[in-house]
Amino acid sequence: MASHNGGKVGEIAHLLSPFSVEVVSAGELGLPEPEETGETFRANAELKALAAARATGLPALADDSGLMVDALNGAPGIYSARWGGPERDFVRAMERVEAELAGKTDRRARFVCALTLAWADGHCETFEGTVGGVMVWPPRGKQGFGYDPVFQPDGRTLTFGEMDPGAKHAISHRADAFAKLVAACFV
Ligand code: IMP
Repeated sequence: MASHNGGKVGEIAHLLSPFSVEVVSAGELGLPEPEETGETFRANAELKALAAARATGLPALADDSGLMVDALNGAPGIYSARWGGPERDFVRAMERVEAELAGKTDRRARFVCALTLAWADGHCETFEGTVGGVMVWPPRGKQGFGYDPVFQPDGRTLTFGEMDPGAKHAISHRADAFAKLVAACFV
């Protein structure tokens, strides 16, 4: 798993649990984090998965994901992690989104996830998933990670931060991308 983000590694390990795959993270292997120089989720997922696959000789799965807020023209988007600053402080990132939404009535947003499975020979496959919802304030719930406490998915009354992990995994952008990957690569 080409990630140093414990929240993501945990969610992907949960999604992979029915497949008898042993998951080891790039963080545990001490691999350096490649710079995310891509301009799309897909480009960054491919760059991370290929770097880990080439460094280890193992198939590598990378997730590049983020929050796209309609009234902010899709921001923070691929900069979602960077809005937390060098310390990845998501209280600060959530406050920044809320400050930029001040006075706007359109609070629609979506999480987007690009998942890339790469092999050491440079072959890779990418799958994209999404989940729509609205931005809420103040933040609610302590589950999940990142922007989960301020995102309420469509048709639900709880934020991702208030949901049990299983309920989030049933509908999340990551689960949507993962279902497409499983359909193409595992069955
Ligand atoms: P990256 O893909 O590692 O560049 O960072 C993705 C960032 O998007 C995370 O650090 C979170 O801030 C945000 N993000 C992605 N997926 C989720 C999610 O499922 N819940 C909350 N925040 C997320």
